[in-house]
Amino acid sequence: MVYDRSCGEAEARPGMECSDRSRARPDPKKIRRPYGLDYSYRLLSSPAIGAAYRMGLMPVMDLLGQISENLVQLARLGLAGRSQDVQAYLRQIVRRVRKAEPALAQQLSELLAMAPSSLSPLRDFGSTIMPIDADSRLALVKNEYPVLVQNSPILEDALRVKIEQVVQERSHLAALEAQGLGPTRSLLFVGPPGVGKTMSARWLACLLKRPLITLDLATVMSSYLGKTGSNIRAVLEYAKSVESVLLLDEFDAIAKRRDDEGDVGELKRLVTVILQEVDDWPSTSLLIAATNHGELLDPAIWRRFDDVLEFPLPSSCQREVALRDLFGDDARHLGAWLPILSDFWGDRSFSDLRRSVQWVRRRATTKGTDVIEVLLDQIGGELRISSAETRKRAAKLLSEAGYSDRRISELVGISRDTIRKGRG
Ligand SMILES: Nc1ncnc2c1ncn2[C@@H]1O[C@H](COP(=O)(O)OP(=O)(O)OP(=O)(O)O)[C@@H](O)[C@H]1O
Ligand SMILES: [Mg+2]
Repeated sequence: MVYDRSCGEAEARPGMECSDRSRARPDPKKIRRPYGLDYSYRLLSSPAIGAAYRMGLMPVMDLLGQISENLVQLARLGLAGRSQDVQAYLRQIVRRVRKAEPALAQQLSELLAMAPSSLSPLRDFGSTIMPIDADSRLALVKNEYPVLVQNSPILEDALRVKIEQVVQERSHLAALEAQGLGPTRSLLFVGPPGVGKTMSARWLACLLKRPLITLDLATVMSSYLGKTGSNIRAVLEYAKSVESVLLLDEFDAIAKRRDDEGDVGELKRLVTVILQEVDDWPSTSLLIAATNHGELLDPAIWRRFDDVLEFPLPSSCQREVALRDLFGDDARHLGAWLPILSDFWGDRSFSDLRRSVQWVRRRATTKGTDVIEVLLDQIGGELRISSAETRKRAAKLLSEAGYSDRRISELVGISRDTIRKGRG
C-alpha cells in the first residue's frame, strides 16, 4: 500500500533521498543493494562476465561459488571484529573487479578511504586521531559512517524545509560565496524526549554523506571539570578537522552542572570555550547541539547558533502517519482504527508510540491473536469514558468488523438498542 507520510506537506525535493524506503517506491533498477548482494548481482549482470558465462566459459555455479565464498569470508572477518582483515580483503576485491566493475571498485575504495587506519584500533579519519579519555583510554565520541537511515523522520513542513535547506546550501557553496554568504554551520535542536532530534541529526549526516560524531555531554560532564574541559576541547578540535556532522547531545548538561560552588568559575570558562567554538565553527563541518531543556540554556547561547529548530510533540496527523509506519502490514487491517488510536495516544512522543506499538505487536504474536483484540484490551477502559463521538465511531468500526452487539456494548459503553438504531 502506497500512502502519503507528509501530512499534506511538501514532498521531498530532488536530491533529498537518504535510504528512505517508505516515502516513495524506488525504481527497482536503482535500488542499491548491500555491497555483498550488489556485488553478486552486478557481477552476473556485468557485460564481460555475463558474456563469459553465456558462452559457457564460466559456469554460473563457479561464479556463484566465488561470490558465496567472498560473502562468507567477509562475514567471518566482520563478525569476528577483524576490521583490518576486512579492509585487506576488500582491497583484494577492488583489485579484482576494477576493470569489469569500475563503479563498484570506486564505491569500495571510497569506503576504504574513510575506514580506520591500519595502525589505530579506533576509527580515525584521515590523519586525525580520534580523541580518547586520558585515564580510561576509552573513546570520547561515537563515530558512525556511513550513516544509514531507513525512514526519514516525520517532521512538520517548517522543520523539513530547514533541514533540506542546510543540505542544499552544501551543494551551492560557490554561489553562496559569491554573495558573501557562508552555509549554515551550527544548529540548536530543542524539544522533549523522543521527537526526532537525534534521528534528524542522523538524517542530516546521511543526506550530507558525512560521518556523524556524537559526544554525549551528560556523560563527559560526570568527570571533574578540569578534565571535562580538556576532553571537550579535544573532541571539538577533532570534529573541526574532519568533514563531519558533530552532535553535542544533552547540551543542557553544561548548564545543569551547578553542584559545587568551586566549579562555577571553571564551568563559566568551559561554556565560554564552547560558545567561542560555535562562533568560529568551520563551514566544512556542521555542529548540532541537542537538548530537552531549552529553558535551562541562557538566551545568549541560543543566539550563538545559526538556527534553532524546535521539535514539538507529534500532531494528530503525524501520530497517524507514525502508527501506520509502525504497524507495518497490520496497518491495513487497522484502517479506520488508526485515527481513534491517534486520539487515544494524543500525549505520546514518537518514541512512546513506537514502544506501545511494539508491545501490541509482540503481544498479538505471542498470543496468536489479532492486533485489534490486543488494542481493545489496551484501550478498552479509556474507550468507555471517551467522547460520545469517538464511542460512536468505534461502535461502527466494531460492527463492520463483525463484533456482536453485546460485545460492542461492553467495549464502548453504549446500549445495545442505540447500537442497533445506529446501524439502521
Ligand atoms: N520525527 C520522528 N519521526 C519518526 N520517528 C521518530 C521521530 N522522532 C522519534 N522517532 C522514533 O523515536 C526514536 C527516538 O527518537 P530520537 O532519538 O530522535 O529522539 P530525541 O528527540 O533525540 O529524544 P531524546 O531527547 O530523548 O534524545 C527514533 O529512533 C524513532 O524510532
Ligand atoms: Mg536524542
